[in-house]
Amino acid sequence: MAQAKKVVRHCSKKPTPYLKYLLEHKYLDRARNHVAHLYYEDQCLVYDLGAGRNRNTTYLAEQGFNVVPLDMAPQGDVLPWIAGRDRICEKSRGASLVLCQYLLMFLTKAERVQLYLEIDRVAAFGGFLLVELEDVKSGHRVSLKEIKDWFISVKGERSLTPRQLAARNGLWRTVHERDTKHLLMQKST
Ligand SMILES: C[S@@+](CC[C@H](N)C(=O)[O-])C[C@H]1O[C@@H](n2cnc3c(N)ncnc32)[C@H](O)[C@@H]1O
Repeated sequence: MAQAKKVVRHCSKKPTPYLKYLLEHKYLDRARNHVAHLYYEDQCLVYDLGAGRNRNTTYLAEQGFNVVPLDMAPQGDVLPWIAGRDRICEKSRGASLVLCQYLLMFLTKAERVQLYLEIDRVAAFGGFLLVELEDVKSGHRVSLKEIKDWFISVKGERSLTPRQLAARNGLWRTVHERDTKHLLMQKST
């Protein structure tokens, strides 16, 4: 189980263009300014799930976000964590933003559902979820529709057991969507 801690690490890789776009066009200002200070050391808490080489962690840390990177193959300050199996953090902490970029295709449906539950659990009310997808030959097919159905519509709830349903904190809405691969959602306040 991953223990959240502050990490600031630098790497030369650029962030994903979609993350940069959302930040530059102020879609994430609410995550930066409003949600976070209520919950975590006066800084906005971000989980970077499947952080890889930390390109997005590094970028957001430079922008003043408090980012916790997690990955099954941790390098440097990245915390060890298995998506679809482990909890994102021990205690329920309100994350202003959860990054889930180029990770879901590596998970089975059951693992993705476990991860969706975890994201819903750790996200603060008013917090954001950023998803980026890619078709990978050896991976699973994942659509934005599946994600939206799970987080937003009642369809997703059909796949949950009553216990999982009770564990869900709140409903989400789509804030921004681009083509079929990029999505920003926000948990209801
Ligand atoms: C394509 S990379 C994306 C890295 C980063 N999100 C980015 O956008 O640069 C996918 C990452 O997901 C991680 N990963 C794959 N399956 C995972 C799992 N089950 N649990 C945790 N991490 C996983 C890999 O180790 C890898 O670092």
